[in-house]
Amino acid sequence: MNYASTIVGWGKALPSKSRTNADLSKLVDTDDEWIVSRTGIRERRIASDNETTFTLACDAANRALDQASLSAKDVDLVIVATLTPEYGFPSTASLVQDAIGATTAGAFDLNAACAGFAYGLAVARGFIESEMYRTIVLIGSDTMSRVVDWTDRSTCVLFGDGAGAVVLQRTDTPGGIGSTCLRSDGSGGPLLIQRAGGSRHPTSAQTLRDGSHYLRMNGREVYRFAVTATTEAAIAVMVDAGWTSNEVDLFIPHQANVRIIESAARSIGIPMDNVFVNADRYGNTSAGSIPIALCEALDHQRIQVGSKIITVGFGAGLAWAAHAITWTAPTASS
Ligand code: ACO
Repeated sequence: MNYASTIVGWGKALPSKSRTNADLSKLVDTDDEWIVSRTGIRERRIASDNETTFTLACDAANRALDQASLSAKDVDLVIVATLTPEYGFPSTASLVQDAIGATTAGAFDLNAACAGFAYGLAVARGFIESEMYRTIVLIGSDTMSRVVDWTDRSTCVLFGDGAGAVVLQRTDTPGGIGSTCLRSDGSGGPLLIQRAGGSRHPTSAQTLRDGSHYLRMNGREVYRFAVTATTEAAIAVMVDAGWTSNEVDLFIPHQANVRIIESAARSIGIPMDNVFVNADRYGNTSAGSIPIALCEALDHQRIQVGSKIITVGFGAGLAWAAHAITWTAPTASS
């Protein structure tokens, strides 16, 4: 029997507090016109003191399990994709496993930065299709507001906080995650980096003084990489799945910047009507971005049983990943 892995539950969690471009113009020398014209972002959600990567991950996971009508006791594995974990260790996934009551599950974190959820889909798919596990909760959760430098106008306007989760299960119904592409180019590591806090530069008075515990980015180079990587990976999975761009019902790219999304969609040949965009409301929520967008696409009836979906995540590493998914789970509109 050939088994497929398919998404049977989904949920998202976003902080209630939002920060608009006008709010940011009071913090740094920027304005709404610059931010909207360069990025398409209008507002982003910012975690309050008691909202963290862990709390958002738990909320999203519980919603995904409810949506799938499954109990946490059914879960074999919890994966949390994040670059802003709750602690250096233990893993955020172990905290979530305990909090949601997944008492017979394994748990680990996965760090592929903003591509973390897309990498996690590939990992979960492997576990399921090798028949090692039946039910996996995959969460993308990040609180980027905790690692951006709120005095650096070139990065602080881009990011937001949030989490999304999916429940993946083994099925003998054809469809589900049909094609996967994982890529990395570590030579681009310095383009997007948090230098301090790891083994190279442990946190010290000096690293705090020079601000090297904050995210730093070469925006222009990352922009160029993002358009090329998104285009190439999307085409790779589309070709592998045997689809043409006309057949793609919905493209769900990483929500970093609307200009990156538009440029990649044009190169792939997917009209913007078939592209899901919510970066205007949430900014770049890193590993949360694709599962949050997936949840909203389902809420807005943009996905039905049989829909052909392409997702692409990209981020620090540099790392990027894509999937071709044929939707099989019942949705509100099917
Ligand atoms: N408001 C006003 N001016 C600004 C701002 C701001 N918020 N930020 C930068 N500027 C200024 C710069 O200082 C620069 O001024 P100068 O010419 O006087 O030096 C000018 O605007 C142009 O700066 P650029 O960086 O060249 O602007 P660009 O058009 O490239 O846009 C941006 C910058 C939006 C960051 C773009 O490069 C981008 O989107 N890059 C990709 C970022 C991204 O997606 N990163 C996430 C990857 S995923 C992950 O894993 C985290």
